[in-house]
Amino acid sequence: MAPGESIVDKFRLHGRVALVTGGSRGIGRAIALSLAEAGADVVLASRNLPDLEAVAHEISQKGRKALPVSANVRHLAEIGNLVKKAVDEFGRIDVLVNNAGTNVVFASIFSIDEAAWDAILGLNLRGYFFLSQAVGKVMRESGGGSIINVTSVDGIRPRIGAGCYSISKAGIIMLTQVLAQEWGQYNIRVNGIAPGVVRTRFSEALWGNRVIRERTEDSAALGRIGEPEEIGGAAVFLASEASSYMTGHTIIVDGGHFSSVRTLLSTIAPKK
Ligand SMILES: NC(=O)c1ccc[n+]([C@@H]2O[C@H](COP(=O)([O-])OP(=O)(O)OC[C@H]3O[C@@H](n4cnc5c(N)ncnc54)[C@H](OP(=O)(O)O)[C@@H]3O)[C@@H](O)[C@H]2O)c1
Repeated sequence: MAPGESIVDKFRLHGRVALVTGGSRGIGRAIALSLAEAGADVVLASRNLPDLEAVAHEISQKGRKALPVSANVRHLAEIGNLVKKAVDEFGRIDVLVNNAGTNVVFASIFSIDEAAWDAILGLNLRGYFFLSQAVGKVMRESGGGSIINVTSVDGIRPRIGAGCYSISKAGIIMLTQVLAQEWGQYNIRVNGIAPGVVRTRFSEALWGNRVIRERTEDSAALGRIGEPEEIGGAAVFLASEASSYMTGHTIIVDGGHFSSVRTLLSTIAPKK
């Protein structure tokens, strides 16, 4: 570190521009607000513009600029338009957070039809791939950047009943490794965040079900599910110089979820 420079300075994002997909609510909104608090201006993308405008207002109250852009990141034309608007407004993109994701069905593999496969993989994997490709070109021109792919613990350990989603999230972990290897030469770092169950609209089928929630809480070392704000710290770390020697890896943020070990232990040492 240079004399007079503090480790805290390495987490600062002043003068940086971040693009966050799914920035209107849940984990994406929390990440966007965290990046803005660390100093970044933020381009927010999702399909519903009024929701984005509300988050943009929160960011402007923190003294940062925000550009809300309505974009369905399944579609290449909308990806192109999104990146063009970001560059027209700010001239650069330093941080990309691929976050908008979906799971349209809880079903066994035999029940997954082509439409469900296309809906899940089309957003979770194809969308991440082509937005990374478009933003990667901008970053290569400007000398580098940081890409953060929000995956899931379900991409590491399969979630039965959400097999297609698990496959898509495992694909994101490999996408992260491939991009990191290809783009290290351009000073573009690519890392992932794998959350466990976090309280958002997306995961309400899990935490809104008492039995599933209690099983999830019991199998986490911290004994609870996560809040969206608890993902923001990992995002600021990966976006910033604090992680300057890290690429190709995925940080797990799941409250210490080791289901088989804890479930076994709870049978012989029940909670008081
Ligand atoms: N919550 C969890 O427990 C959990 C755990 C592990 C991983 N994750 C991952 O975290 C990410 C965010 O999930 P979340 O829980 O925050 O979900 P959420 O609260 O439902 O938010 C999803 C966001 O994505 C946007 N979006 C959905 N489809 C889109 C599309 N086609 N194009 C552009 N934007 C789109 C939504 O806005 P619009 O609907 O207006 O477009 C919204 O802003 C996902 O990748 C998810 O797989 C979540």
